[in-house]
Amino acid sequence: MSTDEFPTDRPAVVTCGLPYANGDLHIGHLRGYIGADAFNRSLETLGQETAYVCGSDMHGTPVAVNAEQEGVDPADFALDWHRQYEETFPKFNVDFDNYGHTHDETNTELTQEIVRTLDEAGHIYEKEIQVAYDPDADQYLPDRYVVGTCPYCGEKARGDECDEGCQRHLEPGEVENPESTITGNPAEYRQRAHKFFEVSAFTDYLTEFLDGLEGTSNARNQPRQWIEDGLQDWCITRDMDWGIDYPNGADSDGDDLVLYVWVDAPIEYIASTKQYSERVGTDEYDWERVWKDDGDIVHVIGRDIIQHHAIFWPAMLEGAGYNAPRGIAATGFITINGKGLSTSRNRAIWAKEYLDEGFHPDLLRYYLTTTGGLQQDVDFSWEAFQEKVNGELVGTVGNFWYRSLLFAYRNYEGTPEADVSEEVHERIEGAIGETREAVNDYDLRGVGHAATRLAQFGNEYIQGNEPWKLTDEEPERAAQVIRDCVQLAKAVGVLLEPITPDKSQLLWEQIGEDGEVADAHLEDALEAPPRTFDEPGELFEKIEDERVEELTRKLEERVEAAADDEDESDEGETETDDTDADESGDMTDTGDLEPLLEDRIGFEDFQELDIRVGRIESAEGIEGADDLAKLEVDIGFETRQVVAGIKQLHDLDELPGTNCVLLANMEPAELFGVESNGMILAAGEEADLLTTHGDAEIGEKIK
Ligand code: 2FM
Ligand code: ZN
Repeated sequence: MSTDEFPTDRPAVVTCGLPYANGDLHIGHLRGYIGADAFNRSLETLGQETAYVCGSDMHGTPVAVNAEQEGVDPADFALDWHRQYEETFPKFNVDFDNYGHTHDETNTELTQEIVRTLDEAGHIYEKEIQVAYDPDADQYLPDRYVVGTCPYCGEKARGDECDEGCQRHLEPGEVENPESTITGNPAEYRQRAHKFFEVSAFTDYLTEFLDGLEGTSNARNQPRQWIEDGLQDWCITRDMDWGIDYPNGADSDGDDLVLYVWVDAPIEYIASTKQYSERVGTDEYDWERVWKDDGDIVHVIGRDIIQHHAIFWPAMLEGAGYNAPRGIAATGFITINGKGLSTSRNRAIWAKEYLDEGFHPDLLRYYLTTTGGLQQDVDFSWEAFQEKVNGELVGTVGNFWYRSLLFAYRNYEGTPEADVSEEVHERIEGAIGETREAVNDYDLRGVGHAATRLAQFGNEYIQGNEPWKLTDEEPERAAQVIRDCVQLAKAVGVLLEPITPDKSQLLWEQIGEDGEVADAHLEDALEAPPRTFDEPGELFEKIEDERVEELTRKLEERVEAAADDEDESDEGETETDDTDADESGDMTDTGDLEPLLEDRIGFEDFQELDIRVGRIESAEGIEGADDLAKLEVDIGFETRQVVAGIKQLHDLDELPGTNCVLLANMEPAELFGVESNGMILAAGEEADLLTTHGDAEIGEKIK
């Protein structure tokens, strides 16, 4: 792994977390694939030799469970989705150099080879463990076949991940109160022999690896905590038929085991690179140099799978003699209208829906990359989308392109013969520098902003110089200004290409350039455009308010319809309801939950909150305020008067005598003329009051 800046003189590879081949693609997926595509294109504009590879994740319970629900063979089921993904990604200008799948020969062979190598190197051992078992279904219950309680945070969890709570990876046997998702019955734990990869032996290696890792801060920092907490070895086999067979077949019980999906999935990154290399020839792109020698590997992933990529994966690579990733960028959550994306509640923007509505892919690419970059959470609403498109793409970029080129065409039949002014040359050079820095910081928003700011400068430049007033009196000056503007237009096109490849290509053609803007490097932004070009057209179109209203209404209606369906189906439902879990590989499905905050606070920050156990002594409504109640709360040292928005949500007569939790050093406030001297803590729309259940005394500090 190297730390010198991009572009390096070595080949790079950019990968994006593989989508489970099990359902329709939506904005949660697109955000990652578009982000990684834009990052890969950005590297190319720097002159970096790079490939962008991915593939469908065909194995594991996410696929098997869904295939079973539809009564089809998992291989056919997964292949069907794989083909759909292959067709869909290019429609969003997601331009993979290779898109394979984990069930193909290349990946199967490579996976078995890598596992064999790890085994021979003594990194794999067999151990008896407790595995959930459903006696009625007479089968073991790996991963998504079992749900229960997370032993770490107490939330409902799947067999291998705490998807609704702390997001930890869970090992077989860890989930408490296991229930079978096949029958809904309580599961029992049975003793079974499984294979383990000794991740713990790589603790020192991983610590050092993380010290040098580039990428987003979440991917670099979170894993340190897991290492500090102590790494556990990792169970890498499962009792199921669908998957890649454990090499050498049987375990000591004589049973066949398949590899855990998380073993063969990342190996597809290598397999897919290999396929690309074999297609174009190793002289053009050498996969072995990338993966085994000195290449630069960058993974773009969802932030829910950091542990797999920053702990398990580099340990596997190191153990099997492969290169370590140079960078890991972990994207945040997507919310829709401020609420968690939920496929089962149909609160999502589907890939197909977006295209069917007739929107150009570059608009979504621009929205997602300039809002969320590679790390930040993104909220999508049609209003926010409209605002960005109309404001930045139509108002700033499109407006500058069109007015400059039209003026140039009408007055000079193209690019006026003049040199670019020093001021504009420097401004473009500055934008190139910003872009280069942003790419090296894995800051995709910065890439977009450098281009948009340059277009904004262009608008101010043309407006400030008013060339339309100069053509008669000062023709040279007018030509100079327009020459500058055409150069700026070209530069914006080059800089924006990673994000809006189609629109940049159209701009490229409008200014009379040949070939592909995608082949241009940042420095080409300073090269003179051709002397003549044809009449330009507008490249972006405003989204009208009525359209947004209609789309927002449609979205609301279908979320409501899905909620009604869910209510109906819940009525006759006896099995454990795992249906809300997003089986499509996207981990942004958190229902209505507010996204977790990215920024961590230290213990000292927490200690600044003086939170106490209190007892409510009296509660009465506040006159004139629909929701507010006045509470007297005993906190040991004194009794506090507190105003809380619980009038409609609780029977106030019932509250006296209830223990509550109160933030005592909240700044005093006055509400409806009543002083509030603290804040009682509650959760949820019904203001479920936090309380204590043991022997904590009144006034005791929460810590
Ligand atoms: O979480 C998921 O959606 C997985 N399908 C990602 C796999 S990424 C990998 F290949 F490492
Ligand atoms: Zn948990």
